[in-house]
Amino acid sequence: MATRHIDAVRTIDEAVYANPWGVANWRNELASADRHHIVAIEDDILVGHAGLLFVLEEAHVTTVAVDPSREGKGIATAMLVDLLGEARAHGSTGATLEVRAADKRPQRLYGRFGFRPVGVRKDYYSTPIDDGIVMWLTDLQDAEVGDRISEIAAALTHSTEV
Ligand SMILES: CC(C)(COP(=O)(O)OP(=O)(O)OC[C@H]1O[C@@H](n2cnc3c(N)ncnc32)[C@H](O)[C@@H]1OP(=O)(O)O)[C@@H](O)C(=O)NCCC(=O)NCCS
Repeated sequence: MATRHIDAVRTIDEAVYANPWGVANWRNELASADRHHIVAIEDDILVGHAGLLFVLEEAHVTTVAVDPSREGKGIATAMLVDLLGEARAHGSTGATLEVRAADKRPQRLYGRFGFRPVGVRKDYYSTPIDDGIVMWLTDLQDAEVGDRISEIAAALTHSTEV
């Protein structure tokens, strides 16, 4: 992701998040060495974005968002393949994220990659208030995890450029 993508990213975020990040926040994210943000482009249109924060040996998935009109085409899956590959290359030993308890779709998505629920942060989210499910994908460096990511990547049929 580059600065020129911020407006399109924010348009998606405003459609899918209750509290989207502002321009200043995005500029900070893009300027920080411990962040890694990607965009998905289809037919020259920005259709999704996703990001990581590296904390010591952990990779935190901070955001995954897809244009609602493009859902269900594997765009988030493609971005996660990319992010987890990046985390493995970075040497991260595990990946983690929080997801709204009510949002079963992303939980299924993360589950396919091997993320498992390990805890609940009570009332972690606002607008509306919801618990946060903490999910972890441990053993990120294991060959089996690499094989699983490769299998998911091979099954993708779309032509999104990430
Ligand atoms: C959750 C979210 C990221 C999913 O994005 P997406 O691009 O629709 O996800 P994918 O297409 O990769 O996978 C979603 C579904 O499409 C299916 N799918 C994937 N590729 C497909 C393809 N080529 N053809 C048909 N279906 C496909 C998947 O099996 C999956 O099915 P499921 O929801 O029944 O489990 C998106 O809905 C979103 O931005 N939501 C709002 C923000 C949010 O909640 N983000 C997560 C924060 S933790």
